[in-house]
Amino acid sequence: MNVLVAGGAGYVGSHAVAALQESGHTPIVLDTLELGHREACRDAELVVGDTADYDLVTHVLKEFEIDTVMHFAAYSRVGESMEEPLKYYINNVVGTLKLIQAMMDTGVKRFIFSSTAATYGEPEKMPIEESITKCPINVYGHSKLEVEEACQWLSKTSDFKYVAFRYFNACGAHKSGEVGEDHEVETHLIPLILQVPMGKREAISIFGTDYDTPDGTCIRDYIHVSDLADAHVRGIDYLVKGGESGAMNLGTGSGYSVRQIIDAARKVTGQEIKAVEAPRRAGDPSELVARADKANNALGWKPVQSDLETIIGSAWLWHKNHPNGYAS
Ligand code: UFG
Repeated sequence: MNVLVAGGAGYVGSHAVAALQESGHTPIVLDTLELGHREACRDAELVVGDTADYDLVTHVLKEFEIDTVMHFAAYSRVGESMEEPLKYYINNVVGTLKLIQAMMDTGVKRFIFSSTAATYGEPEKMPIEESITKCPINVYGHSKLEVEEACQWLSKTSDFKYVAFRYFNACGAHKSGEVGEDHEVETHLIPLILQVPMGKREAISIFGTDYDTPDGTCIRDYIHVSDLADAHVRGIDYLVKGGESGAMNLGTGSGYSVRQIIDAARKVTGQEIKAVEAPRRAGDPSELVARADKANNALGWKPVQSDLETIIGSAWLWHKNHPNGYAS
């Protein structure tokens, strides 16, 4: 299939491009390159442009005879979304609706959307099921939920079909060591931990040690980015075979604390990684763990690279090979 990958030069999108190629599909990347990297697309066709550019998108959908659209292009910094909410609504919501409008006008009916566990907010019951009431606590999560809701109505009122994948904590890198995480402003735990053995940071700060968890630090469900990518490829087949439109969690169902992640990184790198205790970071829920049965059953999907050793080992390989990201 010819698959338009909006945001295919970004972290999760570039791993989807690799997974599509590995399974015989043809990805065509659409990316502004504002945050993405040309090198992350490797030999895939790249169109530089915005999902909100209706004329460009309709042209690309027709020119490349696109069958399915995967959409990863979004702003995703939680803190920034609270400082510049309109930027998030305009890009993540309006930009996505324009993309869908171009799809509908050119007869492209299948849409695979990159959503997030941030749509849930701070649920009390773990693991998190898709059907619980969603109360996002930041603009980023709300912007993704708004798109999900629009997709739901479009699928009820037309022949538009979609899957929204709610990622838990995306991490790791492609097994080749040639595609990985390269954010201009890094806020994620694992790449920040690995900056310590790389000599770029003296210590990792543990944000909060007084949470109501066994070791006092936050618990998250870490899912390898290539397992996420695999679910997206399976999503195409699911929709082609008439699978029901809707949202699915992508996580492992197991949670690890910040301290456990740091310990795992010490084992994988064989280096002492200095950690310092710091105050809580605003807006961090104590625990987020997925119930992923829906994706397991509907897609025949199981994470196969999401044990901590493989996650951290693959991230370590990428960062060692590319100390300055794609610019290396
Ligand atoms: N953490 C630290 N020190 C750091 C960085 C992070 O202790 O230097 C902790 C955080 O407090 C959190 C955990 O490590 O408890 C994971 O933090 P990340 O920033 O890596 O990931 P988040 O869980 O905050 O964010 C993820 C996704 C977001 C999404 C959010 C939903 O990356 O896109 O889940 O809650 F919005």
